[in-house]
Amino acid sequence: MNISIVAARSLNGIIGNSLKIPWVVKGEQALFKKITMGGILIMGRKTFDSLGKPLPGRETIIISRNENYNCDQCKVCSSLKSALVEAEKLKKSVFIAGGGQIYELALPVVNTVHISTIEKEVSGDVPFPKFPTKEFILAEEHRFTSNINYIYQRFERRK
Ligand SMILES: NC(=O)c1ccc[n+]([C@@H]2O[C@H](COP(=O)([O-])OP(=O)(O)OC[C@H]3O[C@@H](n4cnc5c(N)ncnc54)[C@H](OP(=O)(O)O)[C@@H]3O)[C@@H](O)[C@H]2O)c1
Repeated sequence: MNISIVAARSLNGIIGNSLKIPWVVKGEQALFKKITMGGILIMGRKTFDSLGKPLPGRETIIISRNENYNCDQCKVCSSLKSALVEAEKLKKSVFIAGGGQIYELALPVVNTVHISTIEKEVSGDVPFPKFPTKEFILAEEHRFTSNINYIYQRFERRK
């Protein structure tokens, strides 16, 4: 099963501020949609709360320690491991969609990291883990011009 992280960070490594993403970059969300459409999104409870509902065209698995947390049209799992077991049953591509806590948990087990870097420093309290590490190799890179320019990169785990 291929497991990928999909994330966007600022130049100073921020992905969020409280429950919000602290930028609006035209086109960047379309890229997220294109990469993840038809697949499974695994996300932390806080990220799901910030979205408020499942994203169309994708299955959603939420990770929470709260046994009473539930959501229509989503699965809720108590660990990353159990979320991956549920995901495997669905036979679709698996994307780790944040936030910071879940990226940190998942980075050691993913094969692929799709990461956009917004060319701006922002204030925020949720960082992306230290990346790239020596375990990953750059496989693809595209630069996009927008209201804030950004770079999309795909990294693959070294064999
Ligand atoms: N820029 C991007 O690409 C991007 C993408 C996604 C999200 N974000 C941003 O990231 C921020 C949210 O990230 P976050 O780190 O605060 O929260 P998060 O990772 O979305 O969710 C954290 C929650 O996940 C559950 N959890 C974490 N570790 C667990 C474990 N080991 N076992 C079981 N459950 C576990 C807990 O839920 P319970 O408290 O319910 O137990 C915890 O409160 C927001 O600002 C959001 O906008 C940015």
